[in-house]
Amino acid sequence: MLKLGICTVTHDTPAQRWWRRGLVAANMLPANPPASAEELDRFERIMMHLRLSNGTVRTTVHNRLAAVDEKVGSILPSVFPVSTPLLVEDWAVSSGITAAEWFQSLQRIYPDVTFTASDRTLYLVEARRQKERDVFIVEPGGDPIQYIRAPFVVSLTEMQHPIYFINRAVQRRAMREWGQVAEDFRVPPEWDNLNGGWQTIYLDPFVLRRLPLIHPQVMQMRGERFRMKQHSVFTPLPHPVHVIRTMNILNRSYFTEAQLRSAAEAIWQSLQSGGLWIVGRTVADNPPQHEVTVLQSTPCGWEKVFRIGKGSEVESLVAKSLMGAAIQ
Ligand SMILES: C[S@@+](CC[C@H](N)C(=O)[O-])C[C@H]1O[C@@H](n2cnc3c(N)ncnc32)[C@H](O)[C@@H]1O
Repeated sequence: MLKLGICTVTHDTPAQRWWRRGLVAANMLPANPPASAEELDRFERIMMHLRLSNGTVRTTVHNRLAAVDEKVGSILPSVFPVSTPLLVEDWAVSSGITAAEWFQSLQRIYPDVTFTASDRTLYLVEARRQKERDVFIVEPGGDPIQYIRAPFVVSLTEMQHPIYFINRAVQRRAMREWGQVAEDFRVPPEWDNLNGGWQTIYLDPFVLRRLPLIHPQVMQMRGERFRMKQHSVFTPLPHPVHVIRTMNILNRSYFTEAQLRSAAEAIWQSLQSGGLWIVGRTVADNPPQHEVTVLQSTPCGWEKVFRIGKGSEVESLVAKSLMGAAIQ
């Protein structure tokens, strides 16, 4: 049994998607905004299937967090007066689409808000080998996540079901081959600058091309009040802010207890005293349902402000995470 990939734009039609059944090649991510409606649709479909080397996925959709935005917006003025020049960070935002929506709703309440959206991975790299006529899709740090060799597109971060034994053989061979060329892979440091051009460079044995993971509409929204940057949830901010949101990232399915505690500490250090942390998970889509807890930082830990649904699964863990911390 096998699944064929969507390797080129001509394969990306409803009929071909139905019979090919495989992944969409990530090197079809649109390189330069503005993107056409067809490119936006493809961008969103590629996002749904990308799994990164640390096991996390990129899933996010328009309006996914609208109910969270609304509930948080309704209590925020009781914590920070609307005249506050509010500093807000949204972490692990994937393409940034839900962050942009939250920014727009916050701006209606806080005209002076400054909003930073971040994610560990803001772009991928297409590493094309001309002789072999194949392509690896690689994270900037050098971890391969997808392999494209027409007619196949296979994930390199998710084991293929044994029933698709041909895809599995392609996957195994790709991993072996990457092992032989990985040390030749490196990306120019200037590619980390989001404002740089979307260059292509030749670096034997690869032709490298940068593939942005930020939604083209979000790329165009960036400015003084709405920024995007690379950042990991484990790194404290240099300057504390009023509000931090971490939705659909700090889950037990992704991270160990020790890692979750370390992220909670980074968040506590990144908040001003009295600042809010919105943490939770989307447990169902269509319509979206969330389990969220909003915590307030205190000098000795956290205090619970409110829950949406059953609250976040990391609540109990946070109660033990900081010296003397307590959820009240
Ligand atoms: C499921 S998406 C969540 C998107 C959005 N927050 C939402 O709820 O719709 C998870 C994101 O976490 C990012 N991520 C994974 N590890 C991370 C880390 N250590 N620091 C920051 N972001 C990370 C992934 O790149 C991915 O974009």
